[in-house]
Amino acid sequence: MSRIVFVSNRLPITIDKTSDGLEFKPSIGGLATGLSSVHSADSSLWIGWCGRSRQELSTAEVREISRRLPEDFASHPVYLTERELNQYYYGFCNRTLWPLFHYFNNHAHYDHQQWQSYQQVNRKFFKTVAEVINEEDTIWIHDYQLMLLPAMIRERFPKAKIGFFLHIPFPSYELFRLLPWRSEILQGLLGADLIGFHAYDYVRHFISSVRRLLGYDHNLGYIDMRNRLVKADVFPMGIDYQRYQNAHLLKEVREETNEIIDKVKGTQLVLSVDRLDYTKGIPTRLKSFDQFLEKYPAYKEKVTMIMIVAPSRTELSDYHELLCEIEELVGHINGKHGSIGWVPVWFFYRSFGFNHLTALYSVADIMLVTPLRDGMNLVAKEYVAARVDYKGMLVISETAGAASELGEAVSVNANNIREVADGIKTALEMPAVEKIERNKAMHDRLARYNVEFWANDFLRRLNNVEEVQRINSSQQLDEETDKKLLTDAEKAEKRLFLLDYDTSLTGFSDPKNGGRPNKELYELLRRLAEDRHNEVLIVSGSNKSAMQDWFGDLNIHLAAAHGLWIRRIGGEWETTEIPTEEWKETLRPLLEMHTARTPGSYIEEKDHSLAWHYRRCDPELAAVRVSELKDAFEDLTGNLNIGLINGNRQIEIKDSSINKGRIASILLNEKKWEFIFAVGDDWSDEELFVILPSSAYSIKIGIGMSHANYRVESTQELRNLLHRLVAVCSNKNSPTNKG
Ligand code: UDP
Ligand code: G6P
Repeated sequence: MSRIVFVSNRLPITIDKTSDGLEFKPSIGGLATGLSSVHSADSSLWIGWCGRSRQELSTAEVREISRRLPEDFASHPVYLTERELNQYYYGFCNRTLWPLFHYFNNHAHYDHQQWQSYQQVNRKFFKTVAEVINEEDTIWIHDYQLMLLPAMIRERFPKAKIGFFLHIPFPSYELFRLLPWRSEILQGLLGADLIGFHAYDYVRHFISSVRRLLGYDHNLGYIDMRNRLVKADVFPMGIDYQRYQNAHLLKEVREETNEIIDKVKGTQLVLSVDRLDYTKGIPTRLKSFDQFLEKYPAYKEKVTMIMIVAPSRTELSDYHELLCEIEELVGHINGKHGSIGWVPVWFFYRSFGFNHLTALYSVADIMLVTPLRDGMNLVAKEYVAARVDYKGMLVISETAGAASELGEAVSVNANNIREVADGIKTALEMPAVEKIERNKAMHDRLARYNVEFWANDFLRRLNNVEEVQRINSSQQLDEETDKKLLTDAEKAEKRLFLLDYDTSLTGFSDPKNGGRPNKELYELLRRLAEDRHNEVLIVSGSNKSAMQDWFGDLNIHLAAAHGLWIRRIGGEWETTEIPTEEWKETLRPLLEMHTARTPGSYIEEKDHSLAWHYRRCDPELAAVRVSELKDAFEDLTGNLNIGLINGNRQIEIKDSSINKGRIASILLNEKKWEFIFAVGDDWSDEELFVILPSSAYSIKIGIGMSHANYRVESTQELRNLLHRLVAVCSNKNSPTNKG
């Protein structure tokens, strides 16, 4: 039976040791609470750490855990030693990756030993995965603690279906590049087939880091690793909406709710719920509440804040210091504003269970979620879903991943204390009808994009990637196919040759002579063209006068400027479309800036395109500039129909409506071809390959994913093949064969 095997550092169950023995408690944190809703004993298995070090557990306890986790929770433990926890969990995961990925660079430490431990623990997880998985299983790895695991699994199980989801932000390249082991981390992740993120910005940052650090390009989020495609995409995680929406129906929750209402004695309630973490902006939130009470004293004794801080990673000094700071601030506010009978902030440093939390959610007038940086923040969504009467209002900071989906909430900048203080007031004073309208919109969205939708969407996309990989994995042109190709060519009465010129055939051109073909190529093309059974189209990015000059005397079709111009055999140059040109003015300054900063580069203005040449530049500098240019290009062209072609030491920008596929389809549709042969070597040729019938022989030259059926390694190999083709074609035409 095929299963989903979830792998994460933390299991959904955390073991506590009590005087009555082991306690199996639900874990907190968005990954565990969110995923638990889609983990079902029938169809999934969860591999992870149980929350205690191996040394803390006796042999009998290990036995009990190893028995009960699979039986009762469909989970499989990975035991970590104290040293591993110090070096890997508290060390590399939470003192290096966590702060760096959350833009807290000043908290990040770089320690080689901890990096080694991270590698070693990832290998430990790999061993467990390897023991447990079946061939048909889908492996879904979660979060920053296990970023090397996908590649480890891929190496041993090349055919495995592997998904990876990052629950925290992926930082911008400027931050990520600071990590000494940045390339290893990227290579580790790229072992997956699909890599998911909460927000599009994180996808962008990831793709940009991959391109700049590893040189792998992408097309619509498909990263081309030359022998495999990996997709990076956005999947904003949802919550178990029904569970939160229906929580108020539970007797325990109702009782709890009544008790809270009774205790807050008619004051309005501002709620704050987080794990202890410096990313959550808890001190700034308290300062904002302080300022709110100071600026709007009429609210004194009328508003109470309940602040829940669930203990987390307490062994780390940064977390411990944060706790001290929070406690001090709470004391300060209560001392400053409190009165007999009214305590402004009720502070709880412990974790609350589902019933307690949802009871609070369902009565809180304001939910204050102001992280300085957060991958998603499920608490914000849970609150909206649980406050079923639409009478509450969420105040959320822009830097919470959830903010982009909860646009109707009051949005604030978490660092702007005054703005947050005003945000509290705005939310408290918002008219009831407006709150209903805003909350309703958010409810509808949360109900639709719930956690089940999220998981299904991810898994469906993972299957799609497999399909795209299969379509794109052209096979090497082997002896058998070569033979069949020649036989088919020989038999055919109507043959069409669609040949990309630039780089694909320029193995034949004379470097001292611009792009002019050398004698060998010219002769080959002449011989192909003189055969009455053949029609030949040469497509090039060069302009029409160059094409005319080089091939004008041959009986072949010519397409210049990537297909903007066509010259039919013996005819005049014509164009089928007048593309737009205005974009040139937007993009020219960008190219000019790159030219100024890159000695040796220059801009070539062509018919309806701009090319940036870097043939004469320092190759390393050029590689950096190309990445920068592509990033900037994507930002600038967003919705424009403009494409970028990565050519041979040049980048060409053109209107996307001009493409090789369009021009080739004119010839394709004219006759019932019995033999179609197409060659190309870059992304622009993919536009041609995709429109060909499956019977065509499409050939990609060199490495890289492609829609072509076959690939050859070099232009030399292509040249040999063309010679053989000319030979079989002339066989057919020889007097003996003409019958
Ligand atoms: N949570 C909990 N008890 C607490 C505090 C938090 O069960 O006392 C849960 C909360 O309901 C939410 C998760 O922990 O599902 C926190 O996830 P979030 O995405 O907000 O932040 P993270 O902790 O993952 O950074
Ligand atoms: C965040 C991380 C999770 C982590 C959780 C709790 O949600 O993305 O991977 O499990 O915090 O942190 P902890 O260190 O206690 O597992």
